[in-house]
This record gives sequence, structure tokens and C-alpha cells, in this order.
Amino acid sequence: MKEIIQKDFEIFLGEEVLEHLSAVLIENSYSKVFVLMDTNTQRFCWPLLSPYLVNFFPIVIPDGESSKSLVQAEKIWETLQNNMADRRAVLINLGGGVISDLGGFCAATYKRGIDFINVPTSLLGMVDAAIGGKLGIDFLSFKNSIGLFKHPKYIFIYPSFIKTLPSEEIRNGLAEVVKHGLIDNKSLFEKLSQLEGQAIEKAGNLIFQSLKIKADIVKKDPFEKDIRKSLNFGHTIGHAIETWSLLNDAIPLKHGEAIAIGMICEAYLSYEILGLPLSELEAINAYFTKHYPKYKGALNNDILIEYMQNDKKNDAGFINFSLLKRIGKAKINIHCQEELIVKAIDYYRKNNS
Ligand SMILES: NC(=O)c1ccc[n+]([C@@H]2O[C@H](COP(=O)([O-])OP(=O)(O)OC[C@H]3O[C@@H](n4cnc5c(N)ncnc54)[C@H](O)[C@@H]3O)[C@@H](O)[C@H]2O)c1
Repeated sequence: MKEIIQKDFEIFLGEEVLEHLSAVLIENSYSKVFVLMDTNTQRFCWPLLSPYLVNFFPIVIPDGESSKSLVQAEKIWETLQNNMADRRAVLINLGGGVISDLGGFCAATYKRGIDFINVPTSLLGMVDAAIGGKLGIDFLSFKNSIGLFKHPKYIFIYPSFIKTLPSEEIRNGLAEVVKHGLIDNKSLFEKLSQLEGQAIEKAGNLIFQSLKIKADIVKKDPFEKDIRKSLNFGHTIGHAIETWSLLNDAIPLKHGEAIAIGMICEAYLSYEILGLPLSELEAINAYFTKHYPKYKGALNNDILIEYMQNDKKNDAGFINFSLLKRIGKAKINIHCQEELIVKAIDYYRKNNS
């Protein structure tokens, strides 16, 4: 079993972590154990976890982003309250990023905060969403607009959960794994480039390397004042493309697919502004064009820039980027001219038409 022990949280990864979770629950003498899951994780993951738990209260919600809502939050608080959860109760979040964001938010606010434990079941959850303490719900159609920072007490990563994850969900999470390599560890990117298809499910060590990058960055800068911004590489243009696709496409791009396009465009900006070597720009472009579908919609530059101007990461009215000096070395707080952003989107179009 691999471990990362930090001041505020502990992460365990391996095939034996569910057994360890059971021991940790006993050690902490929690008064009651609640388990939040969605309909898919109830079907696929709960049967693997439940043998390790005794005396628990399951809470099942519909799967999908629409559950990251005040309505579901109320239902969770209601279940906690109706079952007389006190401040020594614990909530286990068994699911992807929707479950850890929502469950963490409910636990952190119930009776001014009870412990919660993340057991991520999606690749995105394992390498990203379950770590870092950003919690929240979507409100009035704004994503993550109500929330707070608080770390889970423990994170238990059982890589075998990925076996039942649909392939598009693996691709979704893989974009963040690749991003961690691009901003912090060139050899991780090279190893991923050599993996056939989506074989990440068999590569627990790569999952560990990836999540360790996020955990180390979060430890240095928990509230995203500085180095944590490097995790936004690909996300300024990527989020704009994700919003565009949500509003215009019958089957919108998944977050990871939009971020993959964002990373190609922002690698181009890195080449133009920070002198990222051309060979590295080409390697990044080659990786994503090989593993991610081409976007078929007609992106409108002006509207994308407008979305970027409204991005919450902006700084003093400038569209703010985290870019790459080279693969494995990120630089934060870079402002770019709009014409260059358009050139970067054109670079993606040219290479993917
Ligand atoms: N807090 C953070 O730092 C952070 C970071 C990144 C993303 N997020 C949030 O995470 C969410 C996206 O996370 P996600 O991609 O994990 O989405 P998700 O939780 O909706 O999971 C994706 C789908 O996979 C299913 N699923 C999960 N595990 C499964 C398994 N083992 N087998 C079969 N099906 C399974 C889910 O039921 C769901 O249908 C977004 O709301 C995003 O805002 C948060």
C-alpha cells in the first residue's frame, strides 16, 4: 500500500485499502458511519466496499452533474439530521467528483463540520477531485459557485474501481493525469505517451505519481494564491470550449475532452510566449490528437474570448494563463493578447481539421 501523510489529510492507494479503511473507522471511534453514493457507484462499487463496513447508513442519489445541487445537499443534511448524526459521525463519499464535491460540502457544513472520507471511484476523482479540499455545489446554473475549502480526513484509492468505468470516463480523467505530467514531471508524460490506449487502469503507479503531484502542490498552496494555479494549465481556453460545447452541442464535450483541446491551444501559447520548444509543442499536440476525438463543432473565437473574459481565474481584468516553459515546468500568471489566443485556437483547428 502506498501512503502520503500530510498535516491535514492522509492518502492511501492499493488493493488492500478497503480493509485499511475499515481499521481506520474503528480507530477513530466514529459514532455513526454514513456512505454517500450515486446510482452507478451503488451498483458497481458498493458491493466491493460494503463487506468492510458494519452499522452504516447508505445515502443514494442519482448520478450526474445535476446532483451537485442544493436539492441533493438538503436531502443529505436531512438524512444526517433524521438519523441523529452528531459531530463525531463521519461521511464516506463513494464516487467520482460529483460525490466528493457534494458530500464534502455537506459534511463540512453539517453542524459546522463533521469528518469526511473520500473513496474516489472515477479516474478523475482519484487523481484530482478527491484531493485538495475544494468542495461545493452548482447554483443558478453556475458551476461550483457555492462552496468552501476543507480537506477530507482520509482518501482511500482502490484502483480496481476503474474496471467498471466507461471508456469515455477514463479519457475524461486521463486528461488531468497528463496535465500533471506536463506541469510537473516530464517522465510521467513520456510514460503516458508510451501507454497503449487507455491502459492506465492497469497502471496504479502512474495514478499514484499523478495524484502525488496534485497533493504536493496543494500542500504548498492550499488556497490557490500561487503555485496551485499551475493546475489550471489548459483550463482557461478549455473551460471556454467546455461552456461553448454545453450550449451548442447535442452531446457536449466532457470536461477532460475540452481540457485536452485547451492544453493543445495553451501549449501553443507557451511556445509563442515562453519559448516552449517546438518539439514539445508537437509532442503534446500528437498525444491529444491520437487519444482524443476531434471536435466537430464550429468554435466562435469572439464568443470564446468573451467566456474567457468572464473566467473567475482572471486577474485585474486580464485573461490569466498558466503555461509551460517546457514539459515539466509551469509558469503562472501569464497574460496574453487576444490575437494570440485566436492564433492558438487556429493552431488547434489547423491540426484537427
Ligand atoms: N474539487 C475539485 O478539486 C475538483 C476537481 C476536478 C473536478 N471536480 C468536479 O468533479 C466532477 C466531475 O467528476 P467525475 O468526472 O468523477 O464525474 P462523476 O462523479 O459524475 O462520475 C462520472 C460518471 O462515472 C460514474 N462512475 C463513477 N465511478 C464509477 C465506477 N467505478 N464504475 C462505473 N461508473 C462509475 C458516475 O456515476 C458518473 O456517471 C465535476 O462536478 C467537477 O466540477 C472537482
